[in-house]
Amino acid sequence: MTTYYKKTNGTGVQVEDTRIAVIMVGLPARGKSLIAQKVVRYLAWLSIKAKTFNVGSYRRADTPQPTADFFDTANKDGERLRHAAAEAAVADMVRWFERESGVVAILDATNSTKARRRWVKQRCDANNIETLYVESKCDNEELVMQNIMEVKTTSPDYKGQDPETAAKDFRNRIRNYEKVYQTIDEDEKDLTYVKLIDVGNQVIINAIKDYLQSRVVYYLMNLHIRPRSIWLSRHGESNFNLEGKIGGDADISPRGEMYAKALPDLVASSVGDDRQLTIWTSTLKRTIQTARYLAASPKGYDKLEWKALDELDSGVCDGLTYQEIADRYPEDFKARDDDKYNYRYRGGESYRDVVIRLEPIIMELERSENIIIVTHQAVLRCIYAYYMNVPQEQSPWMEVPLHTLIKLTPRAYSTEEVRFKANIPAVSTFRSKGSTAKHQEPENGHKDH
Ligand code: SIN
Repeated sequence: MTTYYKKTNGTGVQVEDTRIAVIMVGLPARGKSLIAQKVVRYLAWLSIKAKTFNVGSYRRADTPQPTADFFDTANKDGERLRHAAAEAAVADMVRWFERESGVVAILDATNSTKARRRWVKQRCDANNIETLYVESKCDNEELVMQNIMEVKTTSPDYKGQDPETAAKDFRNRIRNYEKVYQTIDEDEKDLTYVKLIDVGNQVIINAIKDYLQSRVVYYLMNLHIRPRSIWLSRHGESNFNLEGKIGGDADISPRGEMYAKALPDLVASSVGDDRQLTIWTSTLKRTIQTARYLAASPKGYDKLEWKALDELDSGVCDGLTYQEIADRYPEDFKARDDDKYNYRYRGGESYRDVVIRLEPIIMELERSENIIIVTHQAVLRCIYAYYMNVPQEQSPWMEVPLHTLIKLTPRAYSTEEVRFKANIPAVSTFRSKGSTAKHQEPENGHKDH
């Protein structure tokens, strides 16, 4: 099968003619669904069409709340229904590739025997779909227990049931799977696979074939599940913000300076313990000035400046107000409103371009623990969109006020958000579609928590 990459005008690099089924492998409670959901979110953020097919959801159509016996291989009825669920999921996955031009599907299931993995491969081969097996192998009792707790409180399989009974049944279910589980081994050297042992402690990779597969593998290698948060802040109000100008490399205003001084306390109250943070800024003066008191605080936080965190480059419009842009480049002004995500400023960047340059930042964030990023409106929108799964049509229009610290905490199946306002006034730089207003009051803003 041919894989090629086509450069499109203004919409970045697109992967075409590639169809990969990522086949999850592993016992229950090994974080497979979490991994699947993260990969889909990451690919969607990069505009790669991806979807999860969860065999458990198909099984629930006939057997919504099975007990552990259902998963015993001696239970013939259970075996038949489980195979039917896998059949239905794979058939839907194949249809999705055909009808919706899908690029990466994730088959989220245990696929715990060699026979089952062979069967999935045959189905995919017959439909020109590459297979990438991702096994999550984890014998760390603590991690497994954490997962069992999560499942018993969130799985529809145990909805409305006593938590202790649910946990006991789920452990018995795992035992039934253990009786037949075969880890991927030497006999399966012809498969393309990644084995993640104890969530990234050891990674074994076999026969990765192309660019997109290696990109998924690289992402998987960077994942960890140690508890952590990410803090996001825009720079303090700048002199350009006061004048309604975009871009540039202006100093922060006196109110921006107040925010910079308030930031160490705001951060301390949102951290709540003595965790060590690392500060990331862009290379522009307004973010460095905003972070300087935080960097000098007795906590001794490390600080890094990233070019990749610089604001979206507005090319020939750098230093203009929105009214000036509308007067000088009316067609561009309209084109940007029509498709803000893809519109690339003359001699500058689009949101899509910014996402592409932020990919190494996301990779580094996945590898890291507690990071505070002081950056710019468009860049912050793109990072926020990754964590909160915000669609491309919405992300460039999100309201992200000045003088507000956003704390994001990744949880098993979502990201928790809390906003901390500094109560230091600032202009609003939010511009709604069609408007050229210098400063606007926030509209439809997120609620502060
Ligand atoms: C399930 O029915 O919950 C999962 C089936 C499987 O992947 O083994």
